[in-house]
Amino acid sequence: MPNSQNTSPDIFQFPMVYGTWRMLDGAHSSQDINRRLNRCVELGITAIDTAEIYGGYAVEAALGDAMALSPGLHEKLRVITKSGIYVPNPKNPERTVGFYDASAAQLKKSVEASLRLMGRDRIDLFLVHRPDWFTSIDDTATGLNQLIREGKIQYAGVSNYSPTQFAALNSRMDTGLLTNQVEFHLLNMEPITDGTFDLCLQHRIRPMAWSPLAGGKLFDKNNPASARLASVATSMSAKYGDATLEQLAYAWVMGHPSRPIAVIGTNKLERIESAVQAESITLEREDWYALWVAAQGHNIP
Ligand SMILES: NC(=O)c1ccc[n+]([C@@H]2O[C@H](COP(=O)([O-])OP(=O)(O)OC[C@H]3O[C@@H](n4cnc5c(N)ncnc54)[C@H](OP(=O)(O)O)[C@@H]3O)[C@@H](O)[C@H]2O)c1
Repeated sequence: MPNSQNTSPDIFQFPMVYGTWRMLDGAHSSQDINRRLNRCVELGITAIDTAEIYGGYAVEAALGDAMALSPGLHEKLRVITKSGIYVPNPKNPERTVGFYDASAAQLKKSVEASLRLMGRDRIDLFLVHRPDWFTSIDDTATGLNQLIREGKIQYAGVSNYSPTQFAALNSRMDTGLLTNQVEFHLLNMEPITDGTFDLCLQHRIRPMAWSPLAGGKLFDKNNPASARLASVATSMSAKYGDATLEQLAYAWVMGHPSRPIAVIGTNKLERIESAVQAESITLEREDWYALWVAAQGHNIP
């Protein structure tokens, strides 16, 4: 495996990134989006996470429009994007089946489209969105290495890769993959048991955690695990400066020793403001485990 990356590359100076998957849900004028992006920067969240497929392949263009409203915003925001998932949708009526494509030719095409749509000279971090079982790691690595060499992307990484898939692709990279962006939250702890985070720790790579609030399921009182978590969060709130369930959930995610970067997904300004406060919460060991126990519904083995 190539040498490990810097443990805190400039793109991950703040442990949260603003996710844009749901950005076009509900009201979403360019001005609204621009306001949210500027507020993120003011609060210290200086990187956004997007993808070619988001919003039915429409979010990257909407981000480009929103960023263009503030001269200088491009310089203040690092952009992470992903590609490789192709599903039938009204923009692509010729597709009859969903497929993945992480071939060098497709990666090049996607990155060039992302640059054009967002009005950028470079993608700061580019991720292969999902493993493509039909493309060899040599082909994918050739594409990523070439994009880095050409300066079209600064860093390369992956998303939703298993530890072995990560290791295999990483072995073909000229410079190591920067991250693996995976689903990690109190209602899905797989990365801490399936080897994903162990591999990150071994190679001093910071993972990224998508859906840190379980996509909102954490607040569903009909879900027994969420109800238990709400009760435990209430009991530990005062100790952490009246922290809310969402702040404790972010702190739990970011508290893993691999120091995951939380990719937050709210569309509400006040929730972004509340989220950043979680950065200063360091959970004590017993509280981290108390949340684990509440989520699992049983004691540690
Ligand atoms: N790599 C991948 O395959 C992958 C997959 C999924 C997501 N992602 C990335 O991860 C980002 C975050 O994902 P996510 O949106 O699922 O993150 P999330 O932060 O877990 O969930 C956000 C959702 O929870 C709701 N929510 C937040 N606080 C709440 C509260 N206190 N009460 C009730 N609902 C609340 C939000 O609604 P409001 O907007 O109303 O606050 C929003 O619908 C995405 O934008 C994307 O960038 C990556």
